[in-house]
Order: sequence, then structure tokens, then C-alpha cells
Amino acid sequence: MNAVPQTPHAQQGEEPVLVADQLAKHYQVKRGMFGHGTVKALNGVSFSLTRGKTLAVVGESGCGKSTLARQLTMIEPPTSGRLVVQGYDVAGASKERIAALRRNVQMVFQNPFASLNPRKTVEQTLGEPLAINTALSATERAERIAQIMRTVGLRPEHAKRYPHMFSGGQRQRVAIARAMILDPQIVVADEPVSALDVSIQAQILNLFMDLQDQFKTSYVFISHNLSVVEHVADDVMVMYFGSVAELGDKKTIFARPRHPYTRSLMSATPAIFESDRRIQIKLQGELPSPLNPPSGCTFHQRCPYAVERCRSEVPQLREVDGRQVACHRAEEVGEADA
Ligand SMILES: Nc1ncnc2c1ncn2[C@@H]1O[C@H](COP(=O)(O)OP(=O)(O)O)[C@@H](O)[C@H]1O
Ligand SMILES: [Mg+2]
Repeated sequence: MNAVPQTPHAQQGEEPVLVADQLAKHYQVKRGMFGHGTVKALNGVSFSLTRGKTLAVVGESGCGKSTLARQLTMIEPPTSGRLVVQGYDVAGASKERIAALRRNVQMVFQNPFASLNPRKTVEQTLGEPLAINTALSATERAERIAQIMRTVGLRPEHAKRYPHMFSGGQRQRVAIARAMILDPQIVVADEPVSALDVSIQAQILNLFMDLQDQFKTSYVFISHNLSVVEHVADDVMVMYFGSVAELGDKKTIFARPRHPYTRSLMSATPAIFESDRRIQIKLQGELPSPLNPPSGCTFHQRCPYAVERCRSEVPQLREVDGRQVACHRAEEVGEADA
């Protein structure tokens, strides 16, 4: 088994709050009238997350980001691999321990309209986790609710409102308040700004970052948008077809991406924040069928750098130029950047 890649911040000697070690999730699916197939939605993903830092996970729709989020939040067990949260191996942990770990790993979803109960007021939505998990009195709960509402930029006097009475951005603030109210160590945010107006996205991203400064929360921040990633990440993990294509420090990866897929994402991404250097590689073709994965490197059919070896041999993640990259030609890719 491969060693867990240490992200650059973990190397500076801090204990990781979360370690994923070759996490895999395979789904059995019905395949027309011919029986069954296996979708390898997640195919051996490893990383570690440090206190107060953000690992941004980026990749096209269908590459396994939400599947990863469900593993990390313990909504679903992995098919194989290991998840270690706060030093506890989840697979071997007691029910009580897992309940405690779940409280400590909260999730924010893409669409707050779907993730918030339309029949509950903000006060009810935020009060429930407090009633279940703390010994706070009703008065103390109300105080805590008012406090967290202020912290996320909502007005406490709106606590009796229902989700539909808020704007999209405010609704996402409610969802963020719900995730933060038990003071979790880790928040997994799955495309948390993708459903919002572009004008609101930056505000919500800045809120995430302010909260991280205040509470030293660690984030796994999932986005298909590299501009968002560039704004929030400490480390970046680029996923393709259920696997890690490239993983490392944000500055290292943005300065000189070494995986052709990372480069093509960069050329395809419109900027939210003012940004210029976009490397021009057109992403050709569609994501291949998950029921019929390509041989060798899963990216080879779309890759301008592909050679014969890429069609036959699966590239392993390896260290090149200060990051982890799974490409046979990583040393050549990006050489012209300097
Ligand atoms: N419950 C499931 N059963 C079968 N296939 C699934 C299931 N969940 C996800 N998949 C498949 O796994 C792959 C990854 O999906 P997902 O994690 O949702 O990707 P992303 O969030 O990056 O768009 C896709 O091919 C998707 O169709
Ligand atoms: Mg998704």
C-alpha cells in the first residue's frame, strides 16, 4: 500500500485532523438487461488535512467529489481504504465514537434550498443540534443561536423566519451556521457557492475564510471552479475519474501545473476573481463512461500529451517538482512555463 501523501502543511509537523488512506467507493449498478456493472466512483484517494487549513478538491462533474464527501462525513462507508478522523480509525471505532466524530465533521451542501427543511424556522434548524448534543438550557440555546447568526452575517431577529423568506446567499449562511453551531473541527463543503449568483459567491467564500480564521476549522472545499479554489485553498487536490491527478500546495500547482488535466481545467475556467494567466489547452471529448473505463491512464483519450505508454500503463501518483502527480510525462508537462 502506498504511503499517505503528506500535504505540505502536514509536513510542517502538525498532527492531521483527518487522513484518507486509499479510500475507494465502488457502486454496483444495474446495466440494462445484461446484469450488473461496477462504477468505481472513488478509486483509492489519499490525503491528509491539517488544523485550520483548506484542502480544495477540484474536478469535472462525475469525477467522484460528492462520493468523497460522503465518505469523509461518514454518511456512507468506503468499499476499501481507511479514514482516520482525529486519530481514530473510523472502521474500528465504537458507535459512540463514530457519533462523536460525526458531530465533528459537518457538511455544507451546494443547494441550501434542498438541504434546509422548508418547514423549520432558522431557530428550529439551529436549535435542533444543540438540543440533541448539548446540555444547554432553552435560554442558553437561544443565546447561542443569536450568536452564531451574527457570526455568519445574519440578523438574530430573523430567527423565526423560514428558509423561503431569505435570499439564496442568506440561506447558505443559515446552512453554514447549522454546520458551525457545534463548533466542528472539520467542515466538508460540497460546491457551496455553485448555486449562488456570481455577485454573492465572493461574499460566501469570504465568510468561509473568516470563520476559518476565527475557529481554526479545517475545510475540505469541493468545487469544479478553479477560480474559487484559487481563492480558498491552501492545498489543492485535482481529481479525475475517481482518482487523484495532482495534489499539492496551491501556489506550487497554480504556478506550474504538471498534470495535463490540471492544465486543461485552468484554460477552461472563467475567473470570478481578477486573474489572467490561463494556460490554453482545450479539453477534448467527454468524460468516459464510468462503466467502461479506458485502459492505462484514464485521461489518455483526452490528453494532448498522450503517448503509447499512457494507453497501457496506469500512472501512479509520484512526487515531481514538489507535488504529487499521476502522469507518465509530468516532467515534460509545464516545462515551457518558466
Ligand atoms: N449511489 C450511486 N450509485 C451508482 N453510481 C453512483 C452513485 N453515486 C455516484 N455514482 C457515480 O459515481 C461517479 C461519481 O459521482 P459523484 O461523486 O457524484 O461525482 P461529482 O460529485 O464529482 O460530480 C459518477 O459516475 C456517478 O454516476
Ligand atoms: Mg457532486
